Amino acid sequence: MSDSDSAAIVLAAGKGTRMKSDLPKVLHRIGNRAMVHHVLDRVAEAGIERVAVVVGAGAQEVTDAVSPVRTALQDPPLGTAHAVLAARDLLEGFDGDVVILFGDTPLLTADTIRHMLDLRRSPADPGVVVLGFRPADTAEYGRLIVDGEGRLQAIVEHRDADEEIRRIGFCNAGITAVDGRHLLSLLDAVGNDNAKGEYSLTDIVEIARSRGLDCAVTEVADPDEVMGVNSRAELAVAEGVFQRRLRARAMAGGATLIDPDTVYFSHDTVLGRDIAIGPQVVFGPGVTVGDGVTIRAFCDIEGARISAGAVVGPFARLRPGARIGEEVSIGNFVEIKASSVEAGAKVNHLSYVGDSRIGARANIGAGTITCNYDGFAKAETDIGEGAFIGSNTALVAPVTIGPGAIVGAGSVIAKDVPADSLAVERSTQKVKAGWAEAFRVRRRGKRKAMQTDETG
Ligand code: UD1
Ligand code: MG
Repeated sequence: MSDSDSAAIVLAAGKGTRMKSDLPKVLHRIGNRAMVHHVLDRVAEAGIERVAVVVGAGAQEVTDAVSPVRTALQDPPLGTAHAVLAARDLLEGFDGDVVILFGDTPLLTADTIRHMLDLRRSPADPGVVVLGFRPADTAEYGRLIVDGEGRLQAIVEHRDADEEIRRIGFCNAGITAVDGRHLLSLLDAVGNDNAKGEYSLTDIVEIARSRGLDCAVTEVADPDEVMGVNSRAELAVAEGVFQRRLRARAMAGGATLIDPDTVYFSHDTVLGRDIAIGPQVVFGPGVTVGDGVTIRAFCDIEGARISAGAVVGPFARLRPGARIGEEVSIGNFVEIKASSVEAGAKVNHLSYVGDSRIGARANIGAGTITCNYDGFAKAETDIGEGAFIGSNTALVAPVTIGPGAIVGAGSVIAKDVPADSLAVERSTQKVKAGWAEAFRVRRRGKRKAMQTDETG
């Protein structure tokens, strides 16, 4: 649903000093997606198309990352009200509603954004709607001063609060929705006479009240949603919350997770129904899993498409460009990269398959390696349908094995093999009858002689 009456401004100019990183804070990832992208995804999900990101530290990197979403530069950063004013261009002449979000608060849901906008447009017509929460530790948050009828009177920053106000447990999550008809004039009235010397967005509440506008507050249903990330430790906590959401979504969609806490999804993992996932499975970006697939324990999967009924693992690694066909079997210690394994084929043990096509129902024996790299360039291997590759075969690419061909175990295959033929490349086997027994007799005799020498 598109909402042309709303705009969003995502504040992301902060330095993120505590991350101790060369990467701008909002580009650190959760579930393989940058935090600022999580926020922009939720804004899009809420139907908002008019969006700007306020950048400062690492401006160019953040601008490149969020493109084509527009950015506004705030330099130097003088507070959250000053930051919103940096996006003045987005707001000039816009009289819809504006929701202000933080780029380092990636777990907010689209439902909460919608709820705030709905409240903004409710019959009470509040000029400002603030999102509140009750953190276990109120330490650094602004406190919400609410009157007897639940209307928001003011927000007082922790540093500016007296003991009585500091005892208030209801805090400002920072996310704010404002009537766009008033926003610019409210922001222009904000001063910087406070402990931090900053132009604070929170001041618009009192300014709005002084102009006779109502202000409202709504409490977020799940406090995890408004968790901000300022350090690597907090990034890990946010990742944990996000992973729990993805696991719950996977199970709700019809996947069985034997030990959910040990399975790591990516923000974009797509799962069908009746999938079984064993313990210790990690999904990187870009994975699609079809119906009825079984992924056994200890697999690492990235950029892969796994079709219906396939079985993968245990201990398999699927790398970008792996396309696993229907009913395919990929077994233990098998690595597949940029290759298509067609329906019903089997690669069950100890293989590397790269830049290859394995035709339908082909059987790739244990220890088969496609030698796809000569130190300079990659080359391709093509294995026809129904081919049988014996164990411990090296396929030196570029090479083609025709449909129905058989390659004898232990071969190094550097030339094409025609359809339905046998290729075997190994030295002729020598058999010396009785040699082993004669060898043992000889060796035993020698040992006996030595022992007699020692004791005699
Ligand atoms: C802010 C709120 C506080 C609330 C808390 C919730 C203000 C004045 N205070 O405090 O009431 O409890 O969030 O987490 O708003 N930013 C800019 N430019 C600036 C300053 C900040 O883009 O000049 C961005 C930051 O990158 C960050 C967000 O705005 O994404 C919030 O700024 P931050 O400094 O973390 O505000 P808090 O002090 O946490
Ligand atoms: Mg903060």
